[in-house]
Amino acid sequence: MVEPNLGQKSKELFERAKRLIPGGVNSPVRAFQPYPFFVEKAKGAKLYSVDGASYIDYCMAYGALLLGHGYEEILEPVREQLNRGTIYGAPTEIEVKFAELLSEIYPSIEMLRLVNSGTEATMHAIRLARGFTGRKKIIKFEGCYHGAHDSVLVKAGSGAAWFGAPNSLGVPEETARNTIVLPFNNIEALEETMKAMGNEVAAVIVEPVIANSGLIMPRNGYLTRLRQLTRDYDVVLIFDEIVTGFRLALGGAQQYYGVKPDMTTLGKILGGGFPLAVFGGRKDIMENIAPMGKVYQAGTFSGNPVSVAAGYAVLNLLHKKCGEIYTKLETKCERLAKALKDFIEDYEIEAQVNNIASMFQIFFTDKPVIDYASAKTANTQKFYCYFNGLLAEGVFIPPSQFETCFLSTAHTEDDINATIEAFNKALKTVKECG
Ligand SMILES: Cc1ncc(COP(=O)(O)O)c(C=O)c1O
Repeated sequence: MVEPNLGQKSKELFERAKRLIPGGVNSPVRAFQPYPFFVEKAKGAKLYSVDGASYIDYCMAYGALLLGHGYEEILEPVREQLNRGTIYGAPTEIEVKFAELLSEIYPSIEMLRLVNSGTEATMHAIRLARGFTGRKKIIKFEGCYHGAHDSVLVKAGSGAAWFGAPNSLGVPEETARNTIVLPFNNIEALEETMKAMGNEVAAVIVEPVIANSGLIMPRNGYLTRLRQLTRDYDVVLIFDEIVTGFRLALGGAQQYYGVKPDMTTLGKILGGGFPLAVFGGRKDIMENIAPMGKVYQAGTFSGNPVSVAAGYAVLNLLHKKCGEIYTKLETKCERLAKALKDFIEDYEIEAQVNNIASMFQIFFTDKPVIDYASAKTANTQKFYCYFNGLLAEGVFIPPSQFETCFLSTAHTEDDINATIEAFNKALKTVKECG
């Protein structure tokens, strides 16, 4: 197997980091064997390491960047804001303008709160759903990841699946008991559960397209049926669009599939590279948040003007350019996915490629990947060979089978051509790594 030499400086920094930072990283998905490269800077579609290497980036900060790294039209308003102060502890005009534009783009979001991370957004959305309905249970789906808090760290995807902790230690059994986990894309399981205990369920939370167990799309009609059932039992339907928001379409999965949730969580792309997330939805639900209502939620850095300046620039940019951006991204993604499929056939490798909009992932399995169980049949050793093969060719993808690759508008035709060449070489190594 090719094990690329990522550079002496990265190696040494990782050794130093491990002494003080568990696993050497500040988020588990960033660690990989033998050591990750350390980044010095990034621009457009490229990451530049402290060892002088450059990588075409398909991680895009785990989907947080749609316009690439260091996008000037986002940085300008951020610089302007920095000159006026970084945080006030008092409201600003831009928060109001941001909320107005976001609600126009996502009509299901009649009211919203700004927070700093996706984890916060889903945590507050779930508490609010519980407060609103007076019910305790929630339903989530196997392999969906909704952040790192107790109610949702049950059969979770992303790093939790990769590092073998889908059910994290430290989550009290009493809490986990209130989280019902169902297989994704299985209408019967959903119907049966709703019939048995729908009246005790506060919320169903779902990634409408799962991007945290590799990439898994909903079957035709699945989300529509989910909408009907949740409505029948007065259960709050939360679309966790932290990845799919602004990614599948400007208006996210709810626009793409034409299904309107009661509540939505957004993050990642929303902040233009800064920590910013949102939970919002029906007015009658959101009005229960303090100081209007009795569900408590607060945050010192919530709606901080630097993140909001970046977020407002992103909203305006995407709102203006969405007509051209999304079709172009999809065309680029289709090209990459087709190249992967062709090489798999040429080299007679048992693998699947899932792709939608500007996301794609390969699974080294002979089974179509439609849920967590089928994703888990993938051969992770082969994935590791593929990942390393790509790194050796200057292409960086998320280092786990249970993540997704993301394109940005900054990826050029030359980047795509170079990536296809790298796919070719990396898949050859997969054939050899057995
Ligand atoms: C669908 C989804 N929800 C929630 C989160 C948590 O967001 P954050 O990492 O910003 O806390 C993530 C992060 O990857 C995610 O993919």
